[in-house]
Amino acid sequence: MADAQVATVSNELPETDNLAIGFFKEIILDQNCRDLIERYCKLPSDQVVPHLYTVREKAWKVFPWPCVGMWSFVVPTVNTLPQYSSIISRAKEGGQRILDLGCALGQDVRQMIDDGVPDHLVYGVELEAGFIDLGYDLFLDRDTLKSQFISADVLEKSGPNPELAAWNGKIDIIYNGRFLHCFSRDDGLVVAMRMTKLLSNRSGSVIVGECLGGRIDREVVAPIGKLHLYSVESFKEMWTQAAEKTKVKFKVDVKAQSAGQAQMAHFGGDVVSLVFWVERL
Ligand SMILES: C[S@@+](CC[C@H](N)C(=O)[O-])C[C@H]1O[C@@H](n2cnc3c(N)ncnc32)[C@H](O)[C@@H]1O
Repeated sequence: MADAQVATVSNELPETDNLAIGFFKEIILDQNCRDLIERYCKLPSDQVVPHLYTVREKAWKVFPWPCVGMWSFVVPTVNTLPQYSSIISRAKEGGQRILDLGCALGQDVRQMIDDGVPDHLVYGVELEAGFIDLGYDLFLDRDTLKSQFISADVLEKSGPNPELAAWNGKIDIIYNGRFLHCFSRDDGLVVAMRMTKLLSNRSGSVIVGECLGGRIDREVVAPIGKLHLYSVESFKEMWTQAAEKTKVKFKVDVKAQSAGQAQMAHFGGDVVSLVFWVERL
C-alpha cells in the first residue's frame, strides 16, 4: 500500500458516520471481541468501551484505515479460518512459528496467544510503527508480551530491511488478514515473493488468510488509495507467477465467500472475501 497511501482522508476523527471513508462513530463490538479484551487485558467490563474509544482515536491519527474507522482493528479474523485449530496446534504442539503480516494493532496475534500459542512463537510485521505501539496500549501487555514485532514495508521499496531478512526461512505459517487487496497487482506479486522468502523451506509451510476479492479481477479506488480485487482465478495466476519466479512449488486453495465487510459494498455487488491456503509442496 506504500504507493497507494494517497491520504484523501483526514487524520481528524470525523464527527459523524461516513461510509465512503469507512467510518462509524459509535462502537461496534461483538461479544467475542469484548470477551477477548476483558480476558486478555484483565479489564473490568465497564472500562472496555471507553478504553476502545481512546485507542481508536489515536489509531485514526496514525493512519485512517477503514479497519480503524469500522472498528475491525479489534476484530480477530484468524480464528474464522477453517484451518484455525490446526494452525494453533502446529504452534502449540509442534513449536511452529506464526507471522501475522500487516498485523495493524495485533488483535490476531493476541487472539492466538489467548488460544494457547506461546507468545514467543507469534511474530508481527506492520508498516506503521504507531499501530504496533498502540497495540500494547490496547492489550495492556507492553511489559509482558514476548512476541516480536517489526515495523517494516514488506515491499522494501527503500531497500532490504535487515530486521525482516533475519526472519527469512524461519516462518512456518504466514497469516494475512485483510491485506493482499491493499496492493496493486504488481506489488501483490512482490508481496507474495517476499512472503515466500520468509517461509520455512520445509514442505507444509503455508501462507494463509483472507482478503477482499471480486467475481471479476479489477483495481478499485478507495479514499485511502487503490486496492486490487483478485478473482479466484487471478489469485491463483498470481501465485503461479510467484512460484515460477521463486522456484518454489505451491498448492493453492482459494475460495470466495460472502464479504462480511459491508462498507466495501460500494466497490460493487460482486465483492467477496477470498479465503486462501497456499502450501509449500
Ligand atoms: C486493512 S489493514 C488490516 C489489518 C489487520 N490485518 C486486520 O485484519 O485488522 C492492512 C494493514 O496492512 C498494513 N500495511 C499496508 N501496507 C503495508 C506494507 N507495505 N508493509 C507492511 N504492512 C503494510 C497497514 O498499515 C494496515 O495496518
